[in-house]
Amino acid sequence: MRRPLVAGNWKMNGSREITKTLVTGIGSDLPGDCGIDVVVCPPYVYLDLCSDLLGLQPVSLGAQDLDIHGPGAFTGAIAADMLLDVGCRYVIVGHSERRSLYGESDESVAEKAAVATARGLTPIICVGETQEEREDGITAEVIRRQLGVVIENAGGKIFPQALVAYEPVWAIGTGLTATDHQAQEVHALIREQLSDASEEAAMGTRILYGGSVKPDNAAGLFAQPDIDGGLIGGASLKAADFLGIIKAANS
Ligand code: 13P
Repeated sequence: MRRPLVAGNWKMNGSREITKTLVTGIGSDLPGDCGIDVVVCPPYVYLDLCSDLLGLQPVSLGAQDLDIHGPGAFTGAIAADMLLDVGCRYVIVGHSERRSLYGESDESVAEKAAVATARGLTPIICVGETQEEREDGITAEVIRRQLGVVIENAGGKIFPQALVAYEPVWAIGTGLTATDHQAQEVHALIREQLSDASEEAAMGTRILYGGSVKPDNAAGLFAQPDIDGGLIGGASLKAADFLGIIKAANS
């Protein structure tokens, strides 16, 4: 049985004040054991503050990216060991914004996933097709390529520790959510592909859906057999909405 997971990707949003309000708001209404794993991924500069604020709350900390190198002369970069040092357990890799705006390749995403896992972090590996790719009917091919490079280069053994997040690019921040059926269809393909790594990877890996998830569409998505939770952008910046999504994952 895969334990559901809901992660909030704050992207480049927040301030010290907003971090305090948001983390306190989430914590005040979260039951001690809410039956699912909850993760917040603030910008790097607020990780330490978030870690202090979370204290004993049943919420884990994640980063939005990492560098593949160890500590050293890499100006502007953040190493896996630094993330561990401030209390991170998770790290998002290969978000479509990193791929499209910062030129990350399938190979660099695979390398980041491998480094994260080797250092003891749990990577949340994002895959997803653009609107154009969906219209061209090549969604399955795109996902197969993105995940295939991870399985080949990082090695199948990173699963089921590593998570996969299916985030159709056309659904991110647009209000256009994939239908339950569209999302389930791709999640089933991902699970099938994970069996190339191992049967344990296929059965045990948690596959999250991301893209305009809100409290009112979360329950339908999370009810699908291969959807094990969500990677939430905009709605994770409002405590009430994020809590509503957590509740949907736990019902
Ligand atoms: P939205 O929930 O704002 O669509 O963002 C999804 C996302 O990119 C999470 O990583």
